[in-house]
Amino acid sequence: MCGIVGYVGSKDAYPILLGGLSVLEYRGYDSAGIALVNGKGLEIHKDKGKVDHLRSITHDVAGRGCTTGIAHTRWATHGAPSKHNAHPHTDQHDRIALVHNGIIENYSLLKEKMLKEGIKFRSETDTEVLAQLIGKYYEKDLAAAVRRALLEVDGTFGIAVIAHDRPGVLIGARRGSPLVVGVAEGELFLASDASAVVAHTKDVIYLKDNNLIELTPEGFDTTTLDNKKISPEIHTIEWSVDALAKGGFDHFMLKEIFEQPETIYNAMRGRLLVSEGVARLDGLNLVLPELRGIRRLVLVACGTSWHAALVGEYMIEEIAGIPVEVEYASEFRYRNPIIEPDTLIFVISQSGETADTLAALREASYKGATVLGICNVVGSSIARETHGGVYLHAGPEIGVASTKAFTSQLTVLALLTLLLGRMRRISNSDGIAVAKALEAIPKQVRKILRQNDTIREIAKIYAKHNNFLYLGRSYNFPVALEGALKLKEISYVHAEGYPAAEMKHGPIALIDQDMPSVVLAIKDSIYDKVISNIQEVKARGGSVIAVATEGDREIEKHARHVIYIPKIIPMLSPLLSVIPLQLLAYHIAAQRGCEIDQPRNLAKSVTVE
Ligand code: G6P
Repeated sequence: MCGIVGYVGSKDAYPILLGGLSVLEYRGYDSAGIALVNGKGLEIHKDKGKVDHLRSITHDVAGRGCTTGIAHTRWATHGAPSKHNAHPHTDQHDRIALVHNGIIENYSLLKEKMLKEGIKFRSETDTEVLAQLIGKYYEKDLAAAVRRALLEVDGTFGIAVIAHDRPGVLIGARRGSPLVVGVAEGELFLASDASAVVAHTKDVIYLKDNNLIELTPEGFDTTTLDNKKISPEIHTIEWSVDALAKGGFDHFMLKEIFEQPETIYNAMRGRLLVSEGVARLDGLNLVLPELRGIRRLVLVACGTSWHAALVGEYMIEEIAGIPVEVEYASEFRYRNPIIEPDTLIFVISQSGETADTLAALREASYKGATVLGICNVVGSSIARETHGGVYLHAGPEIGVASTKAFTSQLTVLALLTLLLGRMRRISNSDGIAVAKALEAIPKQVRKILRQNDTIREIAKIYAKHNNFLYLGRSYNFPVALEGALKLKEISYVHAEGYPAAEMKHGPIALIDQDMPSVVLAIKDSIYDKVISNIQEVKARGGSVIAVATEGDREIEKHARHVIYIPKIIPMLSPLLSVIPLQLLAYHIAAQRGCEIDQPRNLAKSVTVE
């Protein structure tokens, strides 16, 4: 999704802005641009294409010493990817320049009005409407003009604005689209994501909705959109800039797959009390008494986070005995969900900014529900707006296809299950057994990762196939969905995930020698049923790649390839069984020459509906 970078200080802004855009590339985009105040006015460079292309058409700008500027990577919504539609946008007299994330919903009405006033437009974007509006109101006070214009717009925005005659002034404002301010001595940074500022400073302000910030090299001034002064809190980023490097891996996705022993451990560190067989989730402390009385849980999420929620449903229902529903945030927000006083809502989101999940959270809060969050990005909108929650502590996830966030979400859901289960129906000794199994997971994941070369070889055999079926049952049904999603996302191969037995009700018609099936055949109570499903695939000429439990030699008679995972209790098996599927998707995509970290049409954080 679109990225924003802004700088004001005493250094040459150009390399800082371009460097920031490069860091934000992972979010997905189709055009890039930059605006600088150069002493004579505004200097704008923008085009369709990658940041490297922008760099190649602007290399002579470096070293000119412009110290105030904004930059943007655009992911097209209103208007095709093109030079004209790329940001920054200006008003008709090029007096102000604006970059914007989000959507101005009433842009056509505003545009019509301004066209009648004789204002000339140069793009098809909703953003230009806001730029023209700010330009119309701009006299001497840029913040006042931005404030006035924002009062007229409906929709969401994270913006950065500069003016032709105001070197040393940068305005940021937000509603529904994140903005982070990096604070350092004599210079300030603005970005849509902390990763774009961490190379310069770890002190950040997470701007709140309906707040506006005026940045100058001397400091900042924060107000609400209706001009009430506020003092924002300065936070310290907990991870280092190394998290943004590939660290010797070919892709961020592979690096993140290999980080999982640590990220899973980080998600449970200090939270898993093995000797007591319980979990401690401090972020939920406020609602602990409420947790005891709940009768129903609703887990709301999108994409991979939704798959984690499905695993959570299986865990919580089995271990804690609480009825759980899993909802797509995009559906939940527009229907009329039943939320009773003893219903508790959890929203799950890696980014904490997914528009539908945020809207679902607001809808549930509006209906009086207590809404808790499971998020990775600290200070994100969802993390802030929930009544409590649990951070994943997985560090930045750069690969668009989520991997380490998924296993961290499963870890947190397992901890939650343990907490709820022990409050209700599982004994101390059963709690200890689950806790011990969870504690062993990082080591077991490391063992699976050692099979990377074997999985690469299997991927080579199947890389040319254009259709795959992923099958699993019980806890591993959501893993089948997630495995199929990984393959679709990064290799553009059609893959369907199905509960193994449901295959008979449709997908079986597709099976032939050209459609391999990836089957999760973990040793659990329904293992034999899964073997029957494998037979059904084989009988139709389909090849089977099985993910099975160590020591299971029987499976080798049924499957063409077997990838083993260590023995594990069923509830925690998704934490292990998903790893080979992540690697398989990665290597198939690599074989097919796909752009793994930035797959076409996808965005890391979907901040529009
Ligand atoms: C996008 C990403 C997915 C992610 C989904 C939900 O589609 O590409 O990887 O699972 O959004 O994102 P969230 O940040 O809310 O978990």
